Amino acid sequence: MPWNGCGLCRTFEFLQKPPEAGSLWLLLRPPRTMPDPFKLDLTHRPRRLRRTASLRALVEETVLRPQNFIAPLFVIEGKGSPEAITSMPGVFRLNIADLVKECRTLAKLGVPAVALFPSLPARLKNEEGTAALDEDALVLRAVRAIKKSVPQLTVMTDIALDPYTTHGHDGVLTPARDDVANDRTVSILVKMAVLHARVGVDLVAPSDMMDGRVGAIRRAMDAAGYVNTGIMAYSAKFASAYYGPFREAVGSASAAGTSLLSKKTYQLNPANRREALIEAALDEQEGADIIMVKPAGPYLDIIREVRNATRKPVAAYQVSGEYAQIHAAAKAGWLDLAKCRHESLLAIKRAGADMILTYFAREMAQELG
Ligand code: PBG
Repeated sequence: MPWNGCGLCRTFEFLQKPPEAGSLWLLLRPPRTMPDPFKLDLTHRPRRLRRTASLRALVEETVLRPQNFIAPLFVIEGKGSPEAITSMPGVFRLNIADLVKECRTLAKLGVPAVALFPSLPARLKNEEGTAALDEDALVLRAVRAIKKSVPQLTVMTDIALDPYTTHGHDGVLTPARDDVANDRTVSILVKMAVLHARVGVDLVAPSDMMDGRVGAIRRAMDAAGYVNTGIMAYSAKFASAYYGPFREAVGSASAAGTSLLSKKTYQLNPANRREALIEAALDEQEGADIIMVKPAGPYLDIIREVRNATRKPVAAYQVSGEYAQIHAAAKAGWLDLAKCRHESLLAIKRAGADMILTYFAREMAQELG
């Protein structure tokens, strides 16, 4: 214990104490280099790989290619000129001759597939959608024409009654007209699918969301000998407000909410993720070759979940409303059309879609060269 009176001891004690601000020690001690607050000691600098365009290209994880796209096309009767669809700039209803031309262009650009949607005159529609089973239906003639001129193109057709019913629903109604009759609708869709398989479609695409239709269609096509006709199942199809412009295009808008029922009794509730996975699993068990999620952009989480849950190819449908949204904002000068088009599709692919149905298919293939 040092003696307090001793000067030496007091100096010794002072030197042992941690320096206080303003103390003599701070003035006397050897200068230490101060840390530079702007120079961090970082081992990991992810930005190293973002410095140049070539580095960014090297580490790019998702790449869009023309062969990722499926072009939805609208077909009409007659020989008239292309009909514009107000809410879908750049998209037209085409007569069969123009449709074939468009298919040739798409094939040249490297787009491997088209999805056909007929738009029927009102006089051919009725309560039961019987024109769907017409052996010479518009869409069947369109398929034959495409297969004849552009045989290398994959052709898929929608299996649902909405272009054919006066009420615009995807199936026939119950006697009380307060819901779509599931099983009776399935029996019609099965016949429709076999008709489509007979003219040589590569994939039938049931978009109706009836229960059990994938299995029923698979069995019927097999029994009829069309074992190689595939099924792209609209498995997770949500009751979405983003289908508005499409309903203008095929003239099925009447059921969109104005009439007795909306499509909520058969399409998925946008709030439900688990239920979407149940639908995807059922369709896979029933024999779907490709599982689809629709819409795409607002449902990226569902695309990812389905991607993780199945080993089948996953398709996503960037629907009419997603297309219209980008176009409307671009027209107002608020968004860059080409950049948003690219980014929206890149996001869908990154989420896990192997293929994307999009009205941007032709432009994207042109852009990607
Ligand atoms: C109906 C069908 C719809 C779409 C494809 N098939 C609309 C609906 O369910 O009412 C929508 C496609 C789009 O919005 O681009 N069978």
